[in-house]
Amino acid sequence: MPAHDGGSLRAAAFAAMENAHAPYSGFHVGAALALETGEVVSGCNVENASYPLGICAEQAAVAAAVASGARNFTALVIGTDGSEPTPPCGACRQVLAEFGTSLRITSYTAGGGEAQWNLAELLPHPFKATQLRRGRT
Ligand code: THU
Repeated sequence: MPAHDGGSLRAAAFAAMENAHAPYSGFHVGAALALETGEVVSGCNVENASYPLGICAEQAAVAAAVASGARNFTALVIGTDGSEPTPPCGACRQVLAEFGTSLRITSYTAGGGEAQWNLAELLPHPFKATQLRRGRT
């Protein structure tokens, strides 16, 4: 039984959102990953004056989770201050899919909006490690 429930994941996502560095877009995002150990690892978007260098909350959470030694995620919760619940962007879908596509994703707005998806439905055809094989030997 995981040591967290949906409420603690949601709280972790919004706590991370409060730390988002988003002075350019003004769009604050927090992401919380539930690990199979029951631990929760979070991340937020970190923008940069050199705009393309900004990173998404989901990618920050994945990097933190992997750095902690975890590669099996059981759920992802996203929290934003937007007006509607947002799914992970395309790049984040691919980053998440590296570690499995059965991930349940729930997105909340600070105003109480909620939406859910499975990663497999958001990214039905990820690029996979097996596709890196070359035709010649
Ligand atoms: N953003 C995320 O953190 N996650 C997403 O999946 C979509 C977008 C961030 C990136 C940027 O800092 C801001 O939201 C506006 O695009």
